Amino acid sequence: MKIVFARDYQDMSRKAANIVSAQVLLKNDCVLGLATGGTPVGLYRQLIEWQKKDDISFRDVRSVNLDEYVGLPPEHAQSYRYYMNRTFFDHIDIDKANTFVPSGLFQDAAAECAAYDRRIEAFGGIDLQLLGIGNNGHIGFNEPAEDFQMNTHVVDLMESTRRANARFFGGDLEAVPRQAITMGLLHIMQAKRVLLVADGDQKREVLLRALRGPVTPKLPASILQLHRELTVVCSCTPF
Ligand code: GLP
Repeated sequence: MKIVFARDYQDMSRKAANIVSAQVLLKNDCVLGLATGGTPVGLYRQLIEWQKKDDISFRDVRSVNLDEYVGLPPEHAQSYRYYMNRTFFDHIDIDKANTFVPSGLFQDAAAECAAYDRRIEAFGGIDLQLLGIGNNGHIGFNEPAEDFQMNTHVVDLMESTRRANARFFGGDLEAVPRQAITMGLLHIMQAKRVLLVADGDQKREVLLRALRGPVTPKLPASILQLHRELTVVCSCTPF
């Protein structure tokens, strides 16, 4: 595990963007596992800047996102598909047909989840998986549980997670969906490289517990201690 302490949000975003950029330069047709949330916005902005300067191209990249809210259509302003288009894909040269976000509008949950896992397998797995971390230690929407949830699955979101994300829904907790579909821990752990980003001291304690505490499904991010190629870029006070 490599932990990089950045000075501030901008420094974190730039350092993390450098790692994504290196991955794309080394393997132009790589599979990127992408994340949403507030933390990676600066990283995406930096990658857009480099793409506009022609320093990097996403033409042959394929991407799989971690998660989506159940019930939100792709055009909903708070859906993760919408986030990805607006925050990143609309501004770079990626072929959108090669970008995948789980659908929150499935008829058959089990079939949708299985199809998402099969897709990742058909790609030969993920080369670089980008992750943020929730206040309760979730990655993607893998919430604290009795067991590690390995496959893509539908999850009931914890109240604390819904509260943390209510800021994106104009502060309206009731508007935050109660369920999400999320990639499980298997494909995250099978990614060749994992890049975890965390901003500020508000994430310091959960990060410390995840990286230095016991490996437990009660703190899903702790499983990352077992990954052989984990890089953490964080802008909290060094520990
Ligand atoms: C959300 C997402 C996660 C994200 C986490 C932290 O619930 N599903 O992928 O990492 O919350 O978000 P933020 O970066 O906004 O703190």
